[in-house]
Amino acid sequence: MSMTNDLVVLAKQEVGKSAVARIQSNSIVGLGTGSTTAYAIQYIGERLKSGDLKNIVGVTTSFQGEVLARKYNIPLTTLDVIDHIDIAIDGADEVDPKKNLIKGGGAAHTQEKIVDSLARFLIVVIDSNKLVDKLGSTCPLPVEVIPKAVTPVMRQLEQLGGKPEIRMGLRKAGPVITDQGNLVIDVKFKEINAPKTLEVTINNIPGVLENGLFVGITDLVLVGEIINGKPIVREL
Ligand code: A5P
Repeated sequence: MSMTNDLVVLAKQEVGKSAVARIQSNSIVGLGTGSTTAYAIQYIGERLKSGDLKNIVGVTTSFQGEVLARKYNIPLTTLDVIDHIDIAIDGADEVDPKKNLIKGGGAAHTQEKIVDSLARFLIVVIDSNKLVDKLGSTCPLPVEVIPKAVTPVMRQLEQLGGKPEIRMGLRKAGPVITDQGNLVIDVKFKEINAPKTLEVTINNIPGVLENGLFVGITDLVLVGEIINGKPIVREL
């Protein structure tokens, strides 16, 4: 059942809180991107401020995450100076029953995949609208592409059975530009039957930087939903 916008916000807040409750002091934490993770970043800041959580450093996955981490006084580090990430919290656009994901609705999937796949424990935080039986059923698959390669890459994506479209900006003339200075092609597939094969096949196209299929890296999915008007969090 789909939820109204207000209830979706409530579900996102609750699920963010529940993920942050699982972070322990003295951890390196991957900070995902998106509206659900934004609440998680806020709650990490609140736990740090109250002294309940100590000695946390974050690794961001986007410009958005950097701005939020600064706002909530979360110390940051970079992949150059750490050798592991203890836990990462990230959102998703679709989650299938095997905990495989489509990400990239916010065009941040390249950095997200780097950080999420390095994390020893990845928690994915979603509202129940994101659950699907098969990946690709509600969302197109985002593919980050180097601008010069956009035309040949789109042709190859069509040959794979997809309908590719360059993502256009809102309140900006022209395309969305990623944090790395690239373009995003959203590719609608009828259904994605073999996510790992498709992930690898697309990433092998010259000019593709990364696509939004995250296969076999999620440890825990927390689903926020509203039951009898109250926000509930359950594990998938
Ligand atoms: C960013 O590119 C995405 O992968 C987000 O993590 C994903 O779109 C989830 O965002 P919301 O929590 O805003 O739905």
